[in-house]
Amino acid sequence: MQIFWIGLLGVAAAQLDSVPQGFDPNHWAWVSNTDPLLAVIPGTFNRSVYEAPSAANVSDQRVVSINDQINQTSFVAYDERFFDIIGPDAVVEQLQALAFQVHEAPCYIPETNSLFFVEWGPPGGGEKGRHDSQYLLDLTTNNLTLIKTNPPSWNVHGCVYRSGQLHVVTDGGPEETGYLATIDPQTWKRTTLLNNFYERPFISFNDLEIDDDGNYYLTDSYSGWGRTLHPYGVPTPPTVYFVNGTTLRLKELAVLPVGGNANGVSLSPDGSTLYLADTGATGAVATNKTAARNPQGGRDIYAWDFAVSKTTGERLPLLTSQKLLSRAIQYFYDGIRVSESGLIFGAGGEVVEVIDPESGWTLGSIRFGGGGNDPVNVVLGEHELWVVGKGGVWHVKDVKETLRRY
Ligand SMILES: *[C@@H]1O[C@H](CO)[C@@H](O)[C@H](O)[C@H]1NC(C)=O
Ligand SMILES: *[C@@H]1O[C@H](CO)[C@@H](O)[C@H](O)[C@H]1NC(C)=O
Ligand SMILES: *[C@@H]1O[C@H](CO)[C@@H](O)[C@H](O)[C@H]1NC(C)=O
Ligand SMILES: *[C@@H]1O[C@H](CO)[C@@H](O)[C@H](O)[C@H]1NC(C)=O
Ligand SMILES: *[C@@H]1O[C@H](CO)[C@@H](O)[C@H](O)[C@H]1NC(C)=O
Ligand SMILES: *[C@@H]1O[C@H](CO)[C@@H](O)[C@H](O)[C@H]1NC(C)=O
Repeated sequence: MQIFWIGLLGVAAAQLDSVPQGFDPNHWAWVSNTDPLLAVIPGTFNRSVYEAPSAANVSDQRVVSINDQINQTSFVAYDERFFDIIGPDAVVEQLQALAFQVHEAPCYIPETNSLFFVEWGPPGGGEKGRHDSQYLLDLTTNNLTLIKTNPPSWNVHGCVYRSGQLHVVTDGGPEETGYLATIDPQTWKRTTLLNNFYERPFISFNDLEIDDDGNYYLTDSYSGWGRTLHPYGVPTPPTVYFVNGTTLRLKELAVLPVGGNANGVSLSPDGSTLYLADTGATGAVATNKTAARNPQGGRDIYAWDFAVSKTTGERLPLLTSQKLLSRAIQYFYDGIRVSESGLIFGAGGEVVEVIDPESGWTLGSIRFGGGGNDPVNVVLGEHELWVVGKGGVWHVKDVKETLRRY
């Protein structure tokens, strides 16, 4: 009887550090290793790099109950600053429940208060998971429609809105290789800007970023070819390209080694640092379209500075001083975007994580319910963000910090 009571007290005492006053403990968790049960986990425990911490297989019932508690929350703080960034009023709401397959390329269109995004790859779409239409979500009415550009665009994979235009990259399709294009969101007319590197096809574009001068940063990856979205093959390793927005002249900025894959890309607010999400852990390789996931592969955000001309002081399309900024606590970062204050929002696994750009510390996670809901990419609004991924579309509203830069 004695022992039974001690056991019960143990279970009751297993709770996380309390969150600051004003933050709802049902929606927030404060996770730190000052909690002795998390610093030294009793019994057996295990998880793969792909699983969330709270989805670990643990034998200790007190840790099980902590994990259940985390799984109910929308926000997990690993750093006190996270409370101040997100604020006590923020709420996560699911706008659309969609298939548990990749949704990608979100762009917020302010003129129509709508969200452009795509369903990407198999099992949806036509033959071999190819898609030639895109989604438009009216954020005023929550009406979701399918649109087709003119001419139709195959396998759009990345999108950035700037000055009334959608700037997109594609993986390519049955009869075309990947390209960079603009889409007019009023008429859906598409204008292709660039589809080759000096007459050589790209592998398949994944994402893009634009700087304040209108230059492009494109990631060319194994992902689209690996999902049989086009038949062209793999001319190069995964690469980050710089494209001069005026002349469309282009050059390589970074080439990833074997085990890597070029995915999300974003710039610091002053344009002096480039961030790249390496998703080699997807297992995509040049020699095998169906290769298994590789837990040893990249799950990283790298940061580079741009070199500056010694004669003119101008920023050059040349990267220096590569740093491993952050390795995802769980899964890998797919889409990444940088906020007005320079915070990096990385989507992947069950979460969108917020990363400090200087130290690389993961400040906290925004959660979307677990259970197969997996964010893939994110677009920042003023005090809100929209997230698309496996399972649908989510809105995180009433965030304290100003997020949108444009
Ligand atoms: C731990 O998890 C890994 C990855 O899921 C698995 O391969 C391994 O067998 C597990 N080990 C134990 C002891 O459960
Ligand atoms: C969880 O851990 C227990 C104890 O080590 C083991 O028997 C079981 O197979 C594990 N389950 C999974 C899904 O890894
Ligand atoms: C949703 O938008 C489509 C296309 O504009 C329109 O045909 C349809 O009537 C709208 N549905 C609702 C419920 O507003
Ligand atoms: C892009 O090209 C224009 C026109 O030649 C040039 O003025 C500009 O400096 C170039 N930008 C970069 C970043 O190379
Ligand atoms: C490709 O990867 C799959 C899954 O890991 C494996 O079964 C197959 O043997 C591989 N094929 C080649 C040619 O390496
Ligand atoms: C987390 O909660 C979701 C929704 O209730 C559930 O589907 C999922 O299995 C839970 N995850 C874990 C690891 O318990």
